[in-house]
Amino acid sequence: MTITVRPMTLQETAMIIEYFHSATPEHLEMLGVDPSRLPQASHWQRLYAQMFDQPIEQRGGFLVSWLNHDQLVGFSTADKIRVGQQANMHLHVIEASQRKQGIGVACVRQTVELYFQTLKLKQLFCEPNAFNVAPNRTLQKAGFKYVKTHMTVPGPLNFHQAVNRWVIDRS
Ligand SMILES: CC(C)(COP(=O)(O)OP(=O)(O)OC[C@H]1O[C@@H](n2cnc3c(N)ncnc32)[C@H](O)[C@@H]1OP(=O)(O)O)[C@@H](O)C(=O)NCCC(=O)NCCS
Repeated sequence: MTITVRPMTLQETAMIIEYFHSATPEHLEMLGVDPSRLPQASHWQRLYAQMFDQPIEQRGGFLVSWLNHDQLVGFSTADKIRVGQQANMHLHVIEASQRKQGIGVACVRQTVELYFQTLKLKQLFCEPNAFNVAPNRTLQKAGFKYVKTHMTVPGPLNFHQAVNRWVIDRS
C-alpha cells in the first residue's frame, strides 16, 4: 500500500457525483443518504465548479482525494467548516472490493492532518450513521474519540437518523 492524500482537483469531483449516483439503494441507506436529495449530476458539477472558483479557506467544503499507488481509491469531504475552529469530515473508499484492507484508516490519519493544517482547526468531527459499522470502527482506529449517539439530519443529502459523534480535539 502506497497512500497519497491531497486536495482534490475539480476534474476529480466527477468521481464523487458518479459514486453517489451509481450507488445502490442499500448503500445509500447505510450512508444515511436520501436518494431524492442528490442534486442532478450536471447541477452538482456546476456547484463544484463554483466552489473551486473560491480560495480553499472561503469554500463551504474542502474535498480530498485518496490515492493508492497513484490510483484514485477514495475521498473525504469536509463541511460545516469554521476556519480556525472546527469542521465535519466524511470518508469513502469507492470500490467495495478495496475496503477492509487498511486503506480507510491510513487515509483518514493523513486526511486529519491535512484538515487541521489547512483549515487551522481546533476540533474535527465525524458523524457516521450509528448502524454503519465500517466508519465507526475506522474512526476509532484512526484516533477519534467517541462523544455521543444522537438523532439528527447530518447534512443536506441525509435523512433523519441516529449518528455517532466522533471528535479529534486539539483545542
Ligand atoms: C468507511 C470506510 C472508508 C473505511 O475504509 P476501509 O478501507 O474499509 O477501512 P479499513 O480497512 O482501514 O478498516 C478499519 C477498521 O474498520 C474495520 N471495518 C472496516 N469495514 C468493516 C465492516 N464492514 N464491518 C466491520 N468492521 C469493518 C476493520 O476491520 C478495521 O478494524 P480492525 O483493524 O480493528 O479490524 C469504507 O469501509 C467505506 O468506504 N465504506 C462505505 C462508505 C461509508 O460507509 N462511509 C462512511 C460515511 S460517513
